[in-house]
Amino acid sequence: SAKKKTGTVSFQCSSCGYSQPRWLGRCPDCGEWNTFVEVILQDASIGPGSIMNGAVRSSAAGAGTSGTSFMSRPIPLSAVETRETARLCSGIGELDRVLGGGAMKRSAILVGGEPGIGKSTLLLQAAASAQTAGRILYVSGEESAGQIRSRADRLGLPLDRIEILCTGRLEDIARALEEVSPVFVIVDSIQTVWSPEAGSIPGTVNQLKLCAHELVCWVKERDAVLFLVAHVTKDGTIAGPKALEHLVDTVISFERNDEDVRFLRAHKNRFGSVDELGIFQMTGQGLAAVEDPSSLFIVRRTGELPPGVAVVPVFEGSRAFLVEIQALTVPSKSSMTRVYSDRIDAARVSRIAAVLEKRVGLRFSDQDIYVNVAGGVRLTESAIDLALALALYSARTDMSPPQNVASIGELSLAGEVRPVGRLKARIRAATGLGFSTVLAPEKIDGSVAVRTIKEALSAIF
Ligand code: TYD
Ligand code: MG
Repeated sequence: SAKKKTGTVSFQCSSCGYSQPRWLGRCPDCGEWNTFVEVILQDASIGPGSIMNGAVRSSAAGAGTSGTSFMSRPIPLSAVETRETARLCSGIGELDRVLGGGAMKRSAILVGGEPGIGKSTLLLQAAASAQTAGRILYVSGEESAGQIRSRADRLGLPLDRIEILCTGRLEDIARALEEVSPVFVIVDSIQTVWSPEAGSIPGTVNQLKLCAHELVCWVKERDAVLFLVAHVTKDGTIAGPKALEHLVDTVISFERNDEDVRFLRAHKNRFGSVDELGIFQMTGQGLAAVEDPSSLFIVRRTGELPPGVAVVPVFEGSRAFLVEIQALTVPSKSSMTRVYSDRIDAARVSRIAAVLEKRVGLRFSDQDIYVNVAGGVRLTESAIDLALALALYSARTDMSPPQNVASIGELSLAGEVRPVGRLKARIRAATGLGFSTVLAPEKIDGSVAVRTIKEALSAIF
């Protein structure tokens, strides 16, 4: 139907909130059918909104030229300020890096992770070290003020910077935001925030959407950053509302391996890349940054190495570090063989095994293959192919690899070692940690050039 007055027509999925300019039968985001409804966006503002209305929206017209605030009139791009101060650093290096160099002001960041993984701990630490002279507000609907105080004491955090509000009522939070005018705001968790405006039952998708929307609207017009904590269910989706991911600028999530290592990753980032990996260890004094990830992901051994291990320098975002790949092969008990590998794509493992079978004549087709990565980090780069091949070869032949060997390279189906990106930095990462033999597609900085998998094998076995 036709446009009305100054409004713009948009179609929104009533199930997840995804919106786009055309009607669709099926939502591309949540996959639901017949959920698109027409909505009119009034001017450039978003949605109905009510609770924080007067106070929050009034400053929209005068909103500055930074961040993502809405403007009523176009301005020359050259007139837009880009200031260093557009970002606010939490002072937690790993978090700031994942965010793209600190949190962008006027942005909302959703922090997901399963219960108990350390979201509250991380954000309390971030609140304490936030690099701002402004006020810092920590809103908790999950814990009492006393519990938060004793956590802060246990972590040895300075108390005087952080102001705390324990409530889940949106109206109370809105009032505090107006009174305190904080520049660093944490709402822990968004699932505990509710408003009578969205019906009487807290915790519904409606509640979540309305409350998150109101809070995000607040931050869009302030030189502030907003962290929303969200618990995620076991399958990794942010509980209930995919919709929250559309409302915020950045979605980061916390994952863990089997031990006490925590990985922080951005899944959506309007202000930075999504391939930086933050690594922490949960200690008695809270989350500690892991500055040298190789220390976690390679296993230092004395004497002869066990068969089936190989080391490769990988990149996660801007950072190179070394990881150990471990392989095991056992004759299959049935005619169906299987690959058990959840840190490296099983299809990649099968492909490399097939290359070895064909090019080296080593039989894998009657073997079950197990592949693991020390430290539990997930590897997706093709640069790991050669190391994976060496680990599989060593496992299958039961021959120990020599000490201090690292290898880098993609493998073609023909068994050639192909070049990979950022080779120099990878070689330097390996030699810097005492790997004296580095097999690589090219000879650089003392690396051993290998052109085929056969050459690589004869270089070390
Ligand atoms: P928490 O931050 O409460 O997790 P979330 O907010 O994601 O639910 O962290 C909970 C776990 O971390 C808890 O099991 C205790 C542990 N922990 C430590 O090991 N050391 C510490 O210094 C702190 C504060 C927590
Ligand atoms: Mg918590």
